[in-house]
Amino acid sequence: MNASTISGPQPAIHLDGVSKSYTLDNGDEVRALDDIDLRIGKGEFVALLGPSGCGKSTILRLVAALEAPSAGQATIEGVSPNLVSKTHRLGVAFQDHALLPWLDIASNVSLPFQIAGRRVDRQRVSELLALVGLTEFENAKPRQLSGGMRQRASIARSLVLEPDVLLLDEPFGALDAVTRRQMNVELQRIWSAQKITTLLVTHSVDEALFLADRVLVMSGRPGRIIKDVAVPFDRPRLPSLMRDPLFHALADDLTLALEPNEAGHP
Ligand SMILES: Nc1ncnc2c1ncn2[C@@H]1O[C@H](COP(=O)(O)OP(=O)(O)OP(=O)(O)O)[C@@H](O)[C@H]1O
Ligand SMILES: [Mg+2]
Repeated sequence: MNASTISGPQPAIHLDGVSKSYTLDNGDEVRALDDIDLRIGKGEFVALLGPSGCGKSTILRLVAALEAPSAGQATIEGVSPNLVSKTHRLGVAFQDHALLPWLDIASNVSLPFQIAGRRVDRQRVSELLALVGLTEFENAKPRQLSGGMRQRASIARSLVLEPDVLLLDEPFGALDAVTRRQMNVELQRIWSAQKITTLLVTHSVDEALFLADRVLVMSGRPGRIIKDVAVPFDRPRLPSLMRDPLFHALADDLTLALEPNEAGHP
């Protein structure tokens, strides 16, 4: 079986033979993704690792209906990502997420309610702000927050409508190690409570192993899925798991897969 096509009974996210090319201003073609087959089961948490520029964000943008594939198709629970996005069932926190600078943090987190034309559930907004440790900053403007605090606000915003599918692109990249670990534990808690189908892009092997049911490794451009690893640890997972010898063994394995020059020469 191809490593990239482990199948569940009914994929919540399905990329079927997806390729993506971009045309640059000078007419050159960049082949970002090549023939990606990816199935993510309902309620599954999948982490995506790979070198910079291999197409991780492109995969997320395809699932979020922000891009269309050049070949193949992407579906979410059998329908087009566009439809899922229109019905506000997608929660998204991206690398280049933008909080609206003129709105305070509570209003930024409330924004999805307004976009969806729903009444703002203030209690839900307060709960999420508490969850990400920003209660005291609900009236602050984004520019008055640090980068990591803005990331946390963006995660709160992605969760506010209780999405069916959560797409996270390096959501913890700007956080210090301690806060990052706390956010990992929190994200696991949120995910365990609601079992939201989640696709997380990260550069951290430890974060991927700590959070995910399955870790995928991509090769450099054009991106392909070269490794698909089921993570065997029970939940809830505690930070002490990162000292477990099996955790280290899996981390070494994934790190090796990320280093193409060494992968063939063990
Ligand atoms: N809008 C675009 N126009 C042209 N090329 C693009 C565009 N978006 C992405 N690319 C190219 O597609 C490739 C994949 O980009 P992508 O952003 O998906 O990488 P990534 O794996 O998320 O990298 P990183 O880890 O650095 O965030 C890169 O070579 C990039 O230059
Ligand atoms: Mg990216």
